[in-house]
Amino acid sequence: MKKRVGIEALAVAVPRRYVDIEDLARARGVDPAKFTAGLGAKEMAVNDPGEDSVSLAATAAARLIQQQSVDTSRVGMLVVGTETGVDHSKPIASHVHGLLKLPRAMRTFDSQHACYGGTAGLMAAVEWIASGAGAGRTALVVCTDIARYGLKTAGEPTQGGGAVALLVSETPDLLALDVGLNGVCTSDVYDFWRPVGRREALVDGHYSITCYLDAMAGAYRGWRQRAMEQGLVRWDSKLPSEQLSRILYHVPFCKMARKAHAQVRLCDLEDAADSSPATPEARDEAAKSQASYDAQVAKSLGLNARVGNVYTASLYLALAGQLHAEGAALANQRIGLLSYGSGCCAEFYSGVVGEKAAERMARADLDTVLAKRERVSVEEYERLMNLPYDAPEAIAPEPGTFRLAEIHEHRRKYAGA
Ligand code: CAA
Repeated sequence: MKKRVGIEALAVAVPRRYVDIEDLARARGVDPAKFTAGLGAKEMAVNDPGEDSVSLAATAAARLIQQQSVDTSRVGMLVVGTETGVDHSKPIASHVHGLLKLPRAMRTFDSQHACYGGTAGLMAAVEWIASGAGAGRTALVVCTDIARYGLKTAGEPTQGGGAVALLVSETPDLLALDVGLNGVCTSDVYDFWRPVGRREALVDGHYSITCYLDAMAGAYRGWRQRAMEQGLVRWDSKLPSEQLSRILYHVPFCKMARKAHAQVRLCDLEDAADSSPATPEARDEAAKSQASYDAQVAKSLGLNARVGNVYTASLYLALAGQLHAEGAALANQRIGLLSYGSGCCAEFYSGVVGEKAAERMARADLDTVLAKRERVSVEEYERLMNLPYDAPEAIAPEPGTFRLAEIHEHRRKYAGA
C-alpha cells in the first residue's frame, strides 16, 4: 500500500499589532469600500523590527511543538520557506534550529521562490518522506514572511506578516496529500520582485494578477489531467473543479481568491467536451458563479482577511482558516490547493482532510492567537514602518514568543520563548 503522507498539524504566529483597513483607507483619502469590498480586506498585520521573519518562524515552530506535543527527536528535516530572509547566506532555518534547541542530526535549509518557497519546501519534505528516505522521521516546514510595499503605495493595503509552521509526517491528521498528482507551471516574468538590498518589494500590480491567473491555469490543468487518469475527478454533470469539496488559493489579498476560482472554473468550462455555455461571454459569466465561490472558497478566507498578505504562508493561512472553520465537516473530503510565487511558479495539488483535523485545529487555538493582538492607529503603524530594521525596540517578548533583541557586529540575537 502507498504511504499516507501529509500535514499532521499546524501552528500560526502573527505580529502583535494590526491596523484596521478602513482606518487606513480613510487616512489615505480612499473610499473604504475599495479596500473592503474591492480587495476583501478587514485588518492588516503590522510588525515592528523585533518581529522579523526569524522571530515569527521560531514562534510558530515553538508553538507547534508545544501545542501538538511534537517529538523533536523524530524530526529529520527543517525547511523554512521565505522571500524575506535576513541574510544572504545564513538560513532562517539555522536560527530556528538553534532557538528551538532541535537535535543536530537534521537537514536544515531555506527555500526561496517568492510566495511559492513554502510549497516548494513542503513538497521537498513530503516527497522525502514518501520516497522512504526519511526512514520514519518527520519534517518541520515553516513559511514566514513580512509583506512590505511601503507607505502610500498601491500595494500598501495588501501588506501583512506572519508565519505558519507545518508538521509533515506519515500521520497526516490534517491533510493526506495526493502525492504525484501535482500540476506545475513556470514562466520567467517580472511581476513582483525585491532586488538585493531593498526592504520594499517592487511590483507591477495588475500584471502580477495576470501572471498569477495564467500560471495557475497551467498548474490546474496539469493536476486535472493526472487526477482524471487516477479516476479522482471526471467530466460529469459537475465540473471537475466542483468535485473538490473546497479549493484554497494563494491569497495576496482576499479578492484574488475569487478571481483565481473563476479562472479554475473557466479552465473547466473551456475544456469541457460539451461546449455549453456556448459563447466566451457566457462562459466568463458561469465561471464567476457566486454559489460556487460561496460553497468552495469563501470560508477559507477568515484569517487572511484579518492578517493580510503573508507571502509564502498565505496559502497555509487559508488552510488554517478553512480547517478552523470546517475541520469536522470536511473529514475524508478531498480539497484542492493552489500555490503561486511571482517570477513565477504555480503548483496545484490536492489532499484528503483527516478525521482528526478538528481536534488538531482546536489545539492550534487560533481564536486566541488573533484575539491577543492590539489594534493600532494609522499614525502608530506609520511610526513602526519608519523604524530602522536593525534597531528593534526594547520590548520584552510575550511568553512563548521570540523577538529580535539586537544586531551586533552583523550577528542577530533573539530573546524569548
Ligand atoms: N468600492 C468597491 N470596489 C472598488 C472601489 C470602491 N469604491 N474602488 C475600486 N474598487 C475595486 C476595483 O474595481 C477592483 O476590483 P476588481 O479587481 O475586481 O476590478 C479593486 O477594488 C482594486 O482596485 P484597483 O485595481 O483600482 O486597485 P489598485 O490599482 O490600487 O491596486 C492591486 C490593486 C494591484 C492589487 C495593488 O494593491 C497591488 O499592487 N498589490 C500588490 C500586488 C499583488 O498583490 N498582486 C497579486 C498577484 S501577485 C502574487 O500573488 C504574489 C504576491 O503575493 C505579491
